[in-house]
Amino acid sequence: MACPTDTIAASTRAVANGWTGAGYDHRHACRPAQVACCRSGCAAHPWPVNAWYVAATAAEVTDKPLARQITGRRMVFFRPESGGVVALEDFCPHRGAPLSLGFVRGDTIVCGYHGLALNCKGRPDNMPGQQVGKFPAARNFPVIERYGFVWVWPGDLEQASADKLHPLPWAESGEWAYGGGLFHIACDYRLMIDNLMDLTHETYVHASSIGQKEIDEAPVKTEVTPDEVVTSRTMDGVTAPPFWRMALRGRVCPKMPSSTGGRNAASACRAM
Ligand code: FES
Repeated sequence: MACPTDTIAASTRAVANGWTGAGYDHRHACRPAQVACCRSGCAAHPWPVNAWYVAATAAEVTDKPLARQITGRRMVFFRPESGGVVALEDFCPHRGAPLSLGFVRGDTIVCGYHGLALNCKGRPDNMPGQQVGKFPAARNFPVIERYGFVWVWPGDLEQASADKLHPLPWAESGEWAYGGGLFHIACDYRLMIDNLMDLTHETYVHASSIGQKEIDEAPVKTEVTPDEVVTSRTMDGVTAPPFWRMALRGRVCPKMPSSTGGRNAASACRAM
């Protein structure tokens, strides 16, 4: 059976068909009766769930099952034979073994405990010695692969939309260098957001690389919209700190007049 190339559409169809997996999507902490509270965030799951989350880099997802926990939900990711990326709850509908301990066979993921094979929508497909027609399905999560990442939507299927994916234009632009990696951070995720939104720490924590005193001196502009908070700081006519000087070496400064020819961008910027 071919897997859907558009998992969002497939998931939405599943809802339209009356299958939501609602009784099976919160094994980690909540009982089915609490599903409604979990989907909007409860004490056990304080994360916004109706949003796209980076689940993995594109290279991490292969035909070997990959286990990840996103917003407290255990998920398994894999690439079926027919292409795309599938995300299911990491819980076998038969006896609850993690599907991530199994293996991918064609367009199914096979549980490593008793061999139940689930298709890309999480529906039981076959199992040795068993009729699987009345087995419940594992929850299927909407997935998008873009900007070098696999994104997953842990919340309501009906609200999942590719339009809500936050744009990362620099990931696709030749004008930008772009990279990243996986870091384990032993703290509340909100402290990480705080760290990245308040860059006044650069002056002190990163004094020898990307910090400079002008960061303290330039006023910050903060814009709040229903979906975003953007902080920005403009520093004109300053010398770039060591890391940025190194990164700018040999690059053409956008403000550099053409008369400067091939002059080093860092020195040209300093002179402006
Ligand atoms: S627990 Fe998965 S097949 Fe039995």
